[in-house]
Amino acid sequence: MDAHDLGRSVKWVTSFRTVGAARVLRSVRAAWWRRRVDAAEAPGPVAERARVPGPALGADPEPGGGVVRFARSSLRVRVAAGGAVFCGWDGAAPEPSYALAGPVPEVDERVMLEPDTDGGWRVVSERLLVVVSRHGTVEVRTPGGVMLRRDQPPRWWDPVDAAADRAGPRWTQRSEVPADARFFGLGGRSAGPRLREGAYRLWNTDPGGSFEPGDDPLYLTMPVQLVVADAGTHLVFHDNSWDGRVLLWEGEEGAGSGHDRPGRCELRMTGGPLRYWVVAGTPARVLRGWAGLTGGAAVPPAWALGHHHARWGFGSEAEVRRVVAGYRERGLPLSAVHLDIDHYRGHRVFTVDRERFPDLPGLSAELRKDGVRLVSIVDPGVKAEPGWEVYEAGAAAGAFVRDGRGRPVRGEVWAGTSVFPDFTDPAVRRWWGGLYAERLAEGFAGFWHDMNEPAAFAAFGEHTLPRSARHALEGRGGDHREAHNVYALAMARAGYEALRELRPDERPFLFSRSGWAGLQRYGGTWSGDVTTGWPGLRASLSLVLGLGLCGVPFSGPDVGGFTGSPSPELYLRWFQLGSYLPLFRTHAAISAGRREPWEFGPEVLEHAGAALRERMRLLPYFVTLAHRARVTGAPYVRPVWWRSPEDRALRDCEDAFLLGDALLVAPVLEPGADRRAVRLPRGRWYDTATGRPHEGPGQVLLDAPLARIPVLARAGAVLPVAGADGGVELEVWAPAAGRTGGGVLVVEDGGEEAEVVRFTTGWRDGVVMVEREGAAEVGFPVRVRGV
Ligand code: NOJ
Repeated sequence: MDAHDLGRSVKWVTSFRTVGAARVLRSVRAAWWRRRVDAAEAPGPVAERARVPGPALGADPEPGGGVVRFARSSLRVRVAAGGAVFCGWDGAAPEPSYALAGPVPEVDERVMLEPDTDGGWRVVSERLLVVVSRHGTVEVRTPGGVMLRRDQPPRWWDPVDAAADRAGPRWTQRSEVPADARFFGLGGRSAGPRLREGAYRLWNTDPGGSFEPGDDPLYLTMPVQLVVADAGTHLVFHDNSWDGRVLLWEGEEGAGSGHDRPGRCELRMTGGPLRYWVVAGTPARVLRGWAGLTGGAAVPPAWALGHHHARWGFGSEAEVRRVVAGYRERGLPLSAVHLDIDHYRGHRVFTVDRERFPDLPGLSAELRKDGVRLVSIVDPGVKAEPGWEVYEAGAAAGAFVRDGRGRPVRGEVWAGTSVFPDFTDPAVRRWWGGLYAERLAEGFAGFWHDMNEPAAFAAFGEHTLPRSARHALEGRGGDHREAHNVYALAMARAGYEALRELRPDERPFLFSRSGWAGLQRYGGTWSGDVTTGWPGLRASLSLVLGLGLCGVPFSGPDVGGFTGSPSPELYLRWFQLGSYLPLFRTHAAISAGRREPWEFGPEVLEHAGAALRERMRLLPYFVTLAHRARVTGAPYVRPVWWRSPEDRALRDCEDAFLLGDALLVAPVLEPGADRRAVRLPRGRWYDTATGRPHEGPGQVLLDAPLARIPVLARAGAVLPVAGADGGVELEVWAPAAGRTGGGVLVVEDGGEEAEVVRFTTGWRDGVVMVEREGAAEVGFPVRVRGV
């Protein structure tokens, strides 16, 4: 156990208040059991032999690239038609893969491996130049020859007795990036969005209790790095779900004796294939390419883009009614109420405590009249209770994860000793998916997957299943070391596919605490149990930005923080930030204070009400962003450097974000502020509160009274908003003199189809003009601002 593990274990044991004393004792027993199971299965010390590729012996060109043969390995380079480059060492192919959305993309037939100077090889494609040296260094360069990344020859440690451990070799790969590069991504990291020097583990982890900025890893890790440099932006994805670590060092220009020190990255994996994809271009092109590989993001139903109120500890239907009435009586918009584990019977998934929630379908129908939906938590742990139908059915179907001796693996979670479905088995996904019918019959409209790292309480060691636990892995077979990081992804797939079948006419609403590359195909995520405090507020933004850059665009924090009681000011600032994030949800732990906007005094109520109303006004914009995210891969929430990655000051700006193309949101992340500095990308930006224009690039100081946070609109933007009559209106921000602009509106037809309407803006005879592409009439009321 390292110091970090020890810290976490202490946190678990001291979190009596939330988990209870009996549970703590059971978690001590579970930790011992887990350790024993792994000890019995562990192969013991494995003798290893180090290996590097050695000198190149030759190459076999093939359409799209080819294979370079080295003395002790081989490297396949393949350029896909869309421009993504695949590199696979030791015979690794792109499939099987949990991340890829569909068939491996076609190769770019026009390119092929060709000899380079110095005995190496190269592949020249339209977007990239890949150069492989005769020792196995792989350089990815722009077509103009500027280096984006240089991967050193990898190093493997092969088990001498390969049969002793199915992990295969562990391996390390070091890479260099330009000295000015900045790293982003790796899934949800609380210390980002810019990832500074440090070690970042790739192992989905419930931190237990709650997390602080800097706690790492968290629930949703993924080996996806987005690297932004003057030379260009690229994304590298190591398609390997095993436990690993990414070590990062930012570079420095003119470091020692005036020479640049490149940025460095080292990936250390405990097993699994060495294969990776590189996608390069502008940030928008990179994310489009990434969505092309891993799939477009599921579009949530429009209602899910409104405000959600959750609480761990809603004691009864009466309490839910009280809270909903509280919103209604104060004229506060509300779209959904989330029921946590306390509506279950004894915390058993897919059950209802009929004493406290006697008529959920009735409650659901009643709330629906007010436009409020019910969302249900779904935990993967199934209480191991003979006689209980869900357990019995799963056991009969052989659905639960087993240990090396064929016994179901048990773990402690909320319901008590539980077993865990093996979502990496297609048959188990189907069985589990069928259970969502019960939830739909109870009137739930959305699904909140929790505890799926998977988490299991343990007083020490890791809070998850034993590493030796067996998984189907789509029929290939393997153990938890490989399945752990994709467990939640496969659970999301089970839920999503079932909902598509059970309710073919409705887009599923699903979000999941854990996941992996490709989660967006099935739904979104949220930031998990963020500690209440100003640092937690900052971490909330970091997580949403980082996840968006990894292709998961729908997320948001527990507004107000998960623990304790925020001060009225902190609550309000969190609320204001949350109102501009895709998932806008107040939530808190059972032991935490209230989170309803009226619990913090009349001033907070007034300003939170304004934030809520503004959110609803922006709903057509959020719906548009959701549809565009699916098609283009562009997250709703983007770093301020999105359109100007060459602006180094913007690259380092972490306290503001772009919401789509039109808005720049500058949340207040510190106590006591009534103004804040805002760094602007190039072009003209209007303070939406005052209509005053500001010219970027540069920094401006803007008022940020308690009533609002600074929000700026890009000159020329067309912002679709809800008008007073509920119809869509276009808020047009005047382009700068002599300039043009534009925007997009996605109009839903209620089903899968959506119409994309494009507008352009400009000046004619001193008047701001708006035109709709392909139509004589704009078709929507227009309100011009900024003139
Ligand atoms: C942990 C989740 O992160 C939290 O949101 C939830 O309230 C609790 N589990 C109880 O279900």
